[in-house]
Amino acid sequence: MMQRAKRPSSNEPVSVLVVGVGHLGKQHSRVYKELSGARLVGVVDRDPEKGREVAKNLDVPYYHELSPELLSRVQAASVVTPTPSHFEVASQLISSGVSVLVEKPMTSSLADARVLDQLARDQGVTLQVGHIERFNPVVLAALPYTRDPIFIECDRIHPFSFRSVETSVVLDLMIHDIDIVLNVVDSPVAHLDAVGTRVLSGTEDLASARITFENGCTAMFKASRVAIQKSRKMRIFCPGSYISLDYIAKTGMRISMKEGYDRDRIDFKKMATLEESQGAYPLFTQYFNIEQLIISSEEPLRGELQAFLLAVRTGNEPIVTGEHGVQAIDIATRIVDQIQDSQEAFYRRRQGKPVES
Ligand SMILES: NC(=O)c1ccc[n+]([C@@H]2O[C@H](COP(=O)([O-])OP(=O)(O)OC[C@H]3O[C@@H](n4cnc5c(N)ncnc54)[C@H](O)[C@@H]3O)[C@@H](O)[C@H]2O)c1
Repeated sequence: MMQRAKRPSSNEPVSVLVVGVGHLGKQHSRVYKELSGARLVGVVDRDPEKGREVAKNLDVPYYHELSPELLSRVQAASVVTPTPSHFEVASQLISSGVSVLVEKPMTSSLADARVLDQLARDQGVTLQVGHIERFNPVVLAALPYTRDPIFIECDRIHPFSFRSVETSVVLDLMIHDIDIVLNVVDSPVAHLDAVGTRVLSGTEDLASARITFENGCTAMFKASRVAIQKSRKMRIFCPGSYISLDYIAKTGMRISMKEGYDRDRIDFKKMATLEESQGAYPLFTQYFNIEQLIISSEEPLRGELQAFLLAVRTGNEPIVTGEHGVQAIDIATRIVDQIQDSQEAFYRRRQGKPVES
C-alpha cells in the first residue's frame, strides 16, 4: 500500500531527524540546525550518553528510538548509524513515509540496497545516498571539463582510524571514487580486476582495482586505511586535456592542449635537447595552457544536506539517487568478491592445499 511521502508546504522548513549521532551524525545535526530550510526535531542514538550530549549542545530533544509518535512528526531523516544497521533503520523510516538520506555505503549488501531502493519508490519518498564527494567543491569545479574521459586514476589513502572496520576499505573509502567515476564515465562496466588484503582489521584494509568501461575508458582505483599520511587525489585524462584534483589541498588544475597542437609535426628529438638547456616548463607551455580551477569554500556536507532538503521539498529526483547507491555497491561488492577469492587462493597455496582454478 503506497504511503504518501510527507513533504512540507511551500514556505515551511522540512522537519528533520538525525538517527545516529557519532562521528558523522553530529555534523549532520549541526548543519541541519544551521540551515533555514530545516527544523531539527531531535536526534536519535542507541547510546544515551552520546545522544544526550549532542542534543544538549544543539538544544534539541534526544530520543533513544524511533517511536511511532516521533515518526509521525518528521518528514525527513539522515541515517548515520553504522552501515550494518542502515537497512533496518532506513526501512522503518521509509515505511512511515519519511524521506531519507542514507549515509554511504547505502547498505552492507547489494540485495539489501536493491530492496531499500524499491521500498522508497513504492512509498514515494525521497531516498538520497550520502556520496558526499558529489558535493565537494573540488569535484564540482572539475565537472564541466570531464566530458568523455579516457583514463582516470583515483587515490584515497588514510591512516588507520579504528572506525568502520566492520566494512571493507572498498565499501568504506573506495566507494566514494567509484561513485564519482560512474557518474563521470556514464558507460556500463566491461571488465573489472582487483587485488587487496587485510592488514589490521578483519576486512580489506588495502585495495587496488582497474575497471574498463564499454566506451573504452579505464579507471584505476587505490584505497588504503593503513597509511601514515592522508592523500586523496584524482587525475582525469580527457581528449585534449588533463585534470588533476587534490581533495586535501582543495586544489584543482587543468592542462589543455593549445589550438594547433599536432604531435606529428613536433620534432621530439629537438625538443628533448632544448628541454635539457631550458627546462621543461617553458617548452611545455608553448603547447599547453595550465589553469588553476576556482574552488568554492562551501562545506560539502552543507551542499549535500541542502540538496536533500530541496529534493524532499519538491519531490524531484535527488542528485545522488538510490539507484546510484545500488550501482556503487554493485561495483564495490564485485571488487571485494574478487579480492576475497584471490586471498583465499593465496592462503590455500601457502598451506599447501589445492586451489580451484
Ligand atoms: N560520507 C562520508 O564521507 C562518511 C564519513 C564517515 C562515515 N560515513 C558513514 O556514516 C555512518 C556512521 O559512521 P560514523 O563514523 O559516524 O560511526 P560512529 O560509530 O561514530 O557513529 C554511529 C552512531 O550510531 C549509533 N547507533 C548505532 N546503531 C544505532 C541504531 N540502530 N539506532 C540509533 N543509533 C544507533 C551509535 O551509538 C553511534 O553513536 C557509516 O555508515 C559510515 O560509513 C560516511
